[in-house]
Amino acid sequence: MKILILGSNGRLGSALARRWKVLPDVEVLALTRADIDLSDPVLAEARLASHEFGVGDVVVNCAAATDVDGCEKDREGAARINAESPGRLARLCAARGARLIHIGTDYVFDGSLDRPYTEEEDPKPLSHYGLTKLEGDREVLAASPLHCVVRVSWVFGPDKQSFVDAIVKRALTSPEAAAVHDKTSAPCYTEDMAVWLAEFLKLTVPGGVYHLCNSGTCSWRDYGEYALECAKKNGIPVLTTSVAPLKLSDMRAFIAVRPPHTTLDTSKFQRVTGIAPRPWKEAVAEYFTTWEA
Ligand SMILES: NC(=O)c1ccc[n+]([C@@H]2O[C@H](COP(=O)([O-])OP(=O)(O)OC[C@H]3O[C@@H](n4cnc5c(N)ncnc54)[C@H](OP(=O)(O)O)[C@@H]3O)[C@@H](O)[C@H]2O)c1
Repeated sequence: MKILILGSNGRLGSALARRWKVLPDVEVLALTRADIDLSDPVLAEARLASHEFGVGDVVVNCAAATDVDGCEKDREGAARINAESPGRLARLCAARGARLIHIGTDYVFDGSLDRPYTEEEDPKPLSHYGLTKLEGDREVLAASPLHCVVRVSWVFGPDKQSFVDAIVKRALTSPEAAAVHDKTSAPCYTEDMAVWLAEFLKLTVPGGVYHLCNSGTCSWRDYGEYALECAKKNGIPVLTTSVAPLKLSDMRAFIAVRPPHTTLDTSKFQRVTGIAPRPWKEAVAEYFTTWEA
């Protein structure tokens, strides 16, 4: 089986490329923006078409315009990268008989539910990032019943820094830490994702939308505080393990509106694959056993 990974310089794409290249009987092609630039949908389609792949092969799209505020500033660019290009790539994959696994986001929801979001819930994006990602999901799903849209949240892992790395790094030089306490979701560890997403390489797993993240729910503040505790436990010389609460409404630097509560319900994934994602705290604890600043 040939696996083509787009966005393989990113947080998730790097982890998939690194972990999947050792899988038996697969050939992994790690593609970057230099290989396929999604800001030009016609050219992106032509670049993907220049690769040999077909029935039984899988394309994984981890590439996206992920700067949520940046998407508000360049709406047309975001639409090309997050919606139009995925649509074209999805139709090309469908024509070749290949599956596309497209990575989606919890930001397609408005975050007003007081329970985790299932795949059946109506998306209502609050930001242009969420809107363009939702359009991308729809284009991909319309192209073939074989394709999968896997929505994830709060991605972290060793290949590229994220919120947890930033809070721990800052605490190496400052005794003050603060994070939003009234926004909740669930972290999603890329090392776990590499195992979970491999399930979608099996074409016996039906296409459609899936929600995927580590189990449990937390606020950015809980997440940050737990990361600092784990760092301290592993001898990382952080100057604090307590995180002051901030309100989402006080985050004046945010341009895009963020949804407050977007934990994803992973029951469908569990039902289909028999895999139960482990708690986010276990994943974060493991991450800090090998963490480097
Ligand atoms: N990070 C999160 O917390 C989070 C939460 C929910 C959903 N997601 C979704 O998860 C997926 C993976 O996210 P991630 O955390 O791995 O993000 P990331 O680290 O920002 O990676 C995104 C990748 O997309 C590439 N890219 C951006 N613009 C491109 C373009 N015009 N053409 C081709 N490639 C382009 C980037 O390339 P360069 O390396 O060259 O910049 C980068 O490698 C995305 O679909 C994202 O929407 C992420």
